[in-house]
Amino acid sequence: MITFTEAKANERMKKYVPNFLLMFCFFWTAAPQMLSASGRTISFPVPQFCAADTNLYQYMPFPMGASVAISRMKNNARYIEVVTKEFNSITAENAMKFRSLHPTENTFNWADADYLVDFAQKNGKQLHGHTLNWYQYLPAWVNNFSGDSIAWENMLKTHIQTVVTHFKGKVASWDVVNEYFNDDGTIRPSIWVKNLGADYIARCFQYAHEADPDAILFYNDYGHEYSSAKRTAIGKLINSFKERNIPIHGIGLQFHMTYTQSDANISAAIDFAAATGLKVHISELDVRVNTNKVQGLAFTDAMAAQQADRYKQVVKTYNAIPKSQQFGITTWNVGDADSWVPSWQGAPDYPLPFDANYLRKSAYKAIIKGVK
Ligand code: XIL
Repeated sequence: MITFTEAKANERMKKYVPNFLLMFCFFWTAAPQMLSASGRTISFPVPQFCAADTNLYQYMPFPMGASVAISRMKNNARYIEVVTKEFNSITAENAMKFRSLHPTENTFNWADADYLVDFAQKNGKQLHGHTLNWYQYLPAWVNNFSGDSIAWENMLKTHIQTVVTHFKGKVASWDVVNEYFNDDGTIRPSIWVKNLGADYIARCFQYAHEADPDAILFYNDYGHEYSSAKRTAIGKLINSFKERNIPIHGIGLQFHMTYTQSDANISAAIDFAAATGLKVHISELDVRVNTNKVQGLAFTDAMAAQQADRYKQVVKTYNAIPKSQQFGITTWNVGDADSWVPSWQGAPDYPLPFDANYLRKSAYKAIIKGVK
């Protein structure tokens, strides 16, 4: 005879309810895909408890980050929640650039960047510094600077060393120089090259290293996936640094790419970077779909699938390089409405793993599939 005591009933509840919830969540989350595979498009929200215990970074064998916009980090509760929950690394989208930190010759403005340092420390996130030297995002006083080469050198060194010193022990890694090369592999005739000569890039790394010998120093650029000329130029630069003992520890692949990018190009970029022996950071990943810059373009299921496939391919290829070289993957902001792509290309787009309401897109699931 079976007698149900209260204790026994509780025990059974404990045993079967979680299984039931798991099955429920599985069918609930799979249903939209099953229905859209049968030709119908349907979407309904996933109940919070189904998603409550999962987050992106816990699936990843390397740091998973996003760049963050300071205004949203201060004012948008949902944004803060997603950043906190899904990522274990952050990069300031703009708050550590020259114009943000050093708006006039004799003033440094640390408030916004320090806000992110504080957030990272309180929430146990890695914080990557971006960027000590770039030809864009400069304040007017630098663009109008009229000193001689000694004054230029002093200005460059002061900026780099003041910034690296301020964040010493708080920011463990830096993009030291960003976008030094053109796509054809020639050196971009930036304001820095014009005033300081092409080898100023080596001195940037030396100045940063002097200020914080523990900092992991990166050269960061875009286009590795579509320009073999640029890749080759970056490879030569790294070799010359190694020969001359210039401190460089990592290579950043921005990966602002289109959803038509080929597997072969993605592999070529990642494998080339890994062959340098340096750490590799996929530093600014986004996958745009509006290749013809169509105004009013809607995001279709077919686009979502192809975009997801690109995300998966990047993650899968990256996951195959030696673990010691995997610095991490960072997406360039969080949700589609936060992305820089629409204003940059002058047309709408949907390049990120979260949609405008911070719901997870197919790309999100594809990132996880990439490491399975
Ligand atoms: C972009 C930001 O996303 C924009 O908000 C800003 O107006 C311009 O810069 N490569 C880089 C990033 O290294 O710093 C750029 O970020 C995007 C391209």
